[in-house]
Amino acid sequence: MTIEIKTSEDIAAMRLAGRLAAEVLDYITAFVKPGVTTGELDRLCHEYMVDVQGTVPAPLNYAPPGYRPYPKSICTSVNHQVCHGIPGDKVLKSGDIMNIDVTVIKDGYHGDTSRMFLVGQPSVAARRLCEVTYECMWLGIEQVRPGATVGDIGHAIQRHAEARGYSVVREFCGHGIGRQFHEEPQILHYGRPGTGERLEAGMIFTVEPMINAGRREVRDLADGWTIVTKDHSLSAQWEHTVLVTADGYEIMTASAGAPERPALAARAA
Ligand code: MF3
Ligand code: CO
Ligand code: CO
Repeated sequence: MTIEIKTSEDIAAMRLAGRLAAEVLDYITAFVKPGVTTGELDRLCHEYMVDVQGTVPAPLNYAPPGYRPYPKSICTSVNHQVCHGIPGDKVLKSGDIMNIDVTVIKDGYHGDTSRMFLVGQPSVAARRLCEVTYECMWLGIEQVRPGATVGDIGHAIQRHAEARGYSVVREFCGHGIGRQFHEEPQILHYGRPGTGERLEAGMIFTVEPMINAGRREVRDLADGWTIVTKDHSLSAQWEHTVLVTADGYEIMTASAGAPERPALAARAA
């Protein structure tokens, strides 16, 4: 039960893997339009990773204990799908919201990031859910510094989501990441300030809140992977991989096309 402290060599490699993961999202953005299938988006990302970047798509054949091997190279979670949606024949239509989650392996290190995509013209309510979830991710990230706890991150996220009438998914969480896809610690997206593991410089983990417009309960589909909201309400998710630095955090999954940090109250000094 130990959280790895990354060396400067690890950190340099994670910076590269993280940027490459984010650049897959930059690349695919122009292709997300009404009429395209999620399977086509998977094919395009797979080719970009393997042929252009020389990265390995980490999801492909990923099989944690109790799971069958994941059959595709990215996750595409549309509307009431919470996470781990499997790309396939689904045709995107105007009004859909979709999370694309990309994890690449470069030189043995993982970079993991996801964004929400608006297809055509989603409703005001759908856009608002995506926006607030983005703010949730950033409010969580802004807690990150040596001495803070994982509960501080979860609390900041939960508070923002619930104040807006949304709910936080409990069954999936952020995670340490490095040479392994999923390492310690678990980063819950709910919690109480000052509880849980204490953060130290050199830790690297993801912050990836899943926020539902309705109730928080989820269920899994028969494909063995796709998670949906029980009440069929919309769900959104954003994910960055972050490093704990001497005085705060560094985003490992930054890229030219990543959306700006939102205008939120600055972190208390
Ligand atoms: N990228 C997801 C995460 O953020 C994990 C996806 S596992 C897969 O942790 F097999 F579905 F790809
Ligand atoms: Co992740
Ligand atoms: Co991910």
